[in-house]
Amino acid sequence: ILGQLRKGEMPETLTGIPKNNIQYTPKKDKTVFFKPYTAGVGLKKLKKLSPDQLIELVKKSKLSGRGGAFFPTGMKWEFCKNNSSDQKFIICNADEGEPGTFKDRVLMNKYPGLMIEGMAMAAYAVGANFGYVYLRAEYYYLKDKIEKEIKNFRSKGLLGKNILGIAGFDFDIVVHLGAGAYVCGEETALISSIEGKRGEPSTKEYFPVERGLFGKPTIINNVETLCAVPRILSMSLAKYLKIGTEATKGTKLISVSGDCKKPGIYEIEWGMKLKQFLKLIKAKNPYMILFNGYAGECLSSADFDREISGENLLAEHVQFKWDDPIEYARKMSAIGLRSGGSFMVFNDQRDLMPIFENITNFFVSESCGICAPCRTGNFLLSKKLKKIMLCHAEKSDLEDLEKWSSIIKQSSRCGLGKTSTNYLLSAMLKFPQEFNKCLLARSDFNKSFEFEKVT
Ligand code: NAI
Repeated sequence: ILGQLRKGEMPETLTGIPKNNIQYTPKKDKTVFFKPYTAGVGLKKLKKLSPDQLIELVKKSKLSGRGGAFFPTGMKWEFCKNNSSDQKFIICNADEGEPGTFKDRVLMNKYPGLMIEGMAMAAYAVGANFGYVYLRAEYYYLKDKIEKEIKNFRSKGLLGKNILGIAGFDFDIVVHLGAGAYVCGEETALISSIEGKRGEPSTKEYFPVERGLFGKPTIINNVETLCAVPRILSMSLAKYLKIGTEATKGTKLISVSGDCKKPGIYEIEWGMKLKQFLKLIKAKNPYMILFNGYAGECLSSADFDREISGENLLAEHVQFKWDDPIEYARKMSAIGLRSGGSFMVFNDQRDLMPIFENITNFFVSESCGICAPCRTGNFLLSKKLKKIMLCHAEKSDLEDLEKWSSIIKQSSRCGLGKTSTNYLLSAMLKFPQEFNKCLLARSDFNKSFEFEKVT
């Protein structure tokens, strides 16, 4: 496949997704957001902004981490800027490994310059002079394209020394290829991987903004987050703030796959109703939506009236308080449903149990194996799911499934384990009939099991 792709074929055509596939779907107006892009348009606006003013602008935009965790970007940049270290780094996390997520791939394929501009802006804001694009190994075919664009930027004086003639604004970028491990998208594992160590997560004694790559303050942002900054600058903050909802401004890229007639990448305005979105992608008889990939949650028809926004679907139980973003991020990480923007549709003809088993098997193979809850827990869950699927289970097996999922979520060492059972915990609550039908199929059993909400 790589051979074919390197000859110039876009992967989108191979996966059956339309080639020209970023579609803007406004909630209110008809503004086309993704315009043809010329390198340097947003970057040139930096001539009129100081680093502090740029950070203030990003804070006001309420831009938050589009990789999935939603941490406020301006706040992250400010923490890094305030660090007095002589050396700082910018890393663009392009290790898009979440099954069902392919928005960063399309962004880098269509607008590599936008990502480079975003990285240069982050560097200007925090005072960094070197950056890495940590590119997923499976996106190898994009390496040449990104490197060509980096060269193009250098030749125009948009990367290198004294960028745009601003004295002391020195910044350059290299592309660093991953080696195919899902866990390397986790920031501490990603840092180890660039440092030449084994790509394993470590406990976060320090956030990367304090001590990151080679022990120096480091900004790690997702591709979509970085691409958003030059767009905010070129369209003006005032215009940007008019799009989206009160808590989540702007737009979100959603990767759509599964049982629908129009899969692809959609740029939606925050606040769009799920129902409306399902209509747009022409999903017939949707039964379950797996939102935010395997690390995300299952949604049922009871959720279809909800809106995709920080106030509703993503953080319903968290009061969104922008004046205390750290507390907000902490609460968000506790509830689980955050969005890298993957949207997998399963219609009412699907048997969900094999899908659940497949998801857990994914985590079994991607676990780095260091901590017991994630390593053994997911392995045991997989066995248990198989037992249920084969209708060999008893009520106590469903009880175990619930308990173990909760233990894995609460006690795993890194984000991989902590999010690996999100889907199962939500599936047990929203689709208990799927589990119980396996139980009821046993002739010596005729009682169903009631799942409880685990927090
Ligand atoms: P996290 O909540 O621990 O951190 C998010 C970011 O904010 C990190 O960069 C962290 O360094 C920073 N941060 C948090 N609190 C901070 C503080 N007090 N001071 C300074 N910086 C702070 O989340 P994590 O583990 O980095 O990411 C998990 C998310 O990634 C989940 O939502 C998951 O769904 C998503 N994910 C996305 C994938 C993709 O392909 N896009 C793949 C797998 C998971």
